[in-house]
Amino acid sequence: MKKLETSYLGLALSSPVIVSSSPFTASVESIVELEKAGAGAVVLKSIFEEQIDGEAATLEHYSAYPEASGYLARYLEADYIRGFLDMIAALKRTTKIPVIASINCAESGSWVDYAKQIAAAGADALELNVFFLATDDRSSAAAIEERYASIVGAVAEAVSIPVSVKLSPRFTNIHAVLRALYNRGAKGATLYNRFFEPDIVVDEMRLTASDSLSGPKELRNVLRDVALSSSLLPPLELSVSTGVHTGDDVLKCLLAGATTAQVCTALYLQGTGVIGRMNERIAQWMDAHGFHSIDQFRGAMRAELRPDKNDPNGRVQYMRFFPQK
Ligand SMILES: Cc1cc2nc3c(=O)[nH]c(=O)nc-3n(C[C@H](O)[C@H](O)[C@H](O)COP(=O)(O)O)c2cc1C
Repeated sequence: MKKLETSYLGLALSSPVIVSSSPFTASVESIVELEKAGAGAVVLKSIFEEQIDGEAATLEHYSAYPEASGYLARYLEADYIRGFLDMIAALKRTTKIPVIASINCAESGSWVDYAKQIAAAGADALELNVFFLATDDRSSAAAIEERYASIVGAVAEAVSIPVSVKLSPRFTNIHAVLRALYNRGAKGATLYNRFFEPDIVVDEMRLTASDSLSGPKELRNVLRDVALSSSLLPPLELSVSTGVHTGDDVLKCLLAGATTAQVCTALYLQGTGVIGRMNERIAQWMDAHGFHSIDQFRGAMRAELRPDKNDPNGRVQYMRFFPQK
């Protein structure tokens, strides 16, 4: 469907629906299926900096988390690093879909050279999934944010392909963080990463994983941030991840000002056919509203989502929506 064509990170996409970094994007066969299903692009399953730096053993302690151990097993295979590059090269031979590689990292290091090999293998862009838990009560927010910026700066300087950053929702001022990342070379950002938070089974006094799949209500956590950031810093392209379950959800992301929307849980719950249904819904909605291209309505609800000028801190919203309480 021509009217769904859009661009993200300078890449031409047939649809704004991207399959996010996940087990669905871990093999050529699966990605061929996603391309047939109508995905606009794929973000490959992340490779870990520890794996690239030959410190895969340090990942083993994560396998205490049952939900992680299944896919970590793959990373611990010695030939995974070579195989990752071979997969990118194979994808470029067999598919037309834009391929965004993904590196899960916590600091810059020798793995940055591997990012160059990823680009040389044919990846169209690179998404950095930067995350580390803040565990030091003497480390300031500014120091942590600078760590993010320096990672992005090192990678953006090393590679010629566009770099985007997948971030956690836990920043005091996401807009300032995004500006700092943009200033260091990021072309885009994915909001947000979703974590498998631990939970406690009280009767057995043991840890368990909370839901690894999102619920549709989680999308609300990102729409206002997207609206604000896309108006404060329009050249930075935003992609939404977390809680995108339907075509209407994709439309909400675009109306808020996002360039694309990423899906993972929707594929687990509804199968790959959901991508086609999302595309159909977007096209049908565009027809109903007389839009011929996504650019005509991208960000159209931005102003409504931003706080009112009389209530710049958004403090009156509860009174507005619950006037009787
Ligand atoms: C089983 C599983 C594996 C995932 N692996 C990765 C990964 O390797 N890298 C990454 O950036 N995100 C990973 N994610 C997060 C997803 O890309 C996505 O950001 C998250 O699931 C929220 O989107 P959703 O609501 O569409 O599921 C994973 C998610 C799941 C459920």
